[in-house]
Amino acid sequence: GKDCHSISGLLLSAFMYKHPCSMSEEDYQPLMDLARHPIPCNKSLFWSKTNNLVHRYTKANRDFLTLEDTLLGYIADGMSWCGISSAPGIDYYSCPKWNECENNPGSVYWKMVSKMFADAACGTVQVMLNGSIENGAFRNGSIFGSIEILHLNPEKVSTVEVWLMHDIEGTQSESCAGPSIKMLTSILENRNISITCKENHRPVQLLQCASNPDHATCRLCPYATQ
Ligand SMILES: *[C@@H]1O[C@H](CO)[C@@H](O)[C@H](O)[C@H]1NC(C)=O
Ligand SMILES: *[C@@H]1O[C@H](CO)[C@@H](O)[C@H](O)[C@H]1NC(C)=O
Ligand SMILES: *[C@@H]1O[C@H](CO)[C@@H](O)[C@H](O)[C@H]1NC(C)=O
Ligand SMILES: *[C@@H]1O[C@H](CO)[C@@H](O)[C@H](O)[C@H]1NC(C)=O
Repeated sequence: GKDCHSISGLLLSAFMYKHPCSMSEEDYQPLMDLARHPIPCNKSLFWSKTNNLVHRYTKANRDFLTLEDTLLGYIADGMSWCGISSAPGIDYYSCPKWNECENNPGSVYWKMVSKMFADAACGTVQVMLNGSIENGAFRNGSIFGSIEILHLNPEKVSTVEVWLMHDIEGTQSESCAGPSIKMLTSILENRNISITCKENHRPVQLLQCASNPDHATCRLCPYATQ
């Protein structure tokens, strides 16, 4: 129901002919206003360090939406773009990296859509975290830790359900009782949002099993003794 022609026009006019390090939220506001759409309660799925698995999951199982499954996330996913002050107004050769300047077109865009995605969440929300990375499944400097959890509205969001996924053949660096999950718990509880945590949520694990069918955890009855 959205007008794609207007959406692409607003995206271009947000950054064309502008310096790539001086983007502001106001530049994108008309695009956001046109392209935003509601997200049903209980359907928001956040993620951190599980990019591949989480998107395989939402493609296979249409019950949940990640940011990249919303219109504003979808159109920018995997893209980079920036302006240049001289003609043609778009720099097709190089754009600043995220760490080169803070107000670059990609960072400003993703921060803005991440806030909107979190602001829109209601009911129970899910987050898929990676229990096989070394420095903790929850990192407070990530987009999820520094933007999204702070924008969940405790009057609309009752619970965050963590799906802590381990690589089937990888190390299990953290469990639901681990230190970074404890930190996440205290941040959320201070904001009056409750938290539950499940290790290796089975519907997601079954996708990992598709590429690892002979592994012990992938048997039909994984806990049965032989
Ligand atoms: C969301 O989940 C809660 C708890 O399971 C349930 O009570 C509520 O009806 C659900 N909301 C919608 C819109 O499905
Ligand atoms: C966890 O992170 C590692 C390193 O980035 C990655 O190789 C692995 O696929 C991730 N695991 C899951 C379950 O997403
Ligand atoms: C993350 O947590 C550490 C340790 O608790 C704290 O020192 C740091 O300020 C936090 N960073 C952010 C971005 O909240
Ligand atoms: C959390 O809820 C308690 C009790 O309802 C209330 O006193 C407190 O102000 C709330 N805290 C926040 C951050 O909303």
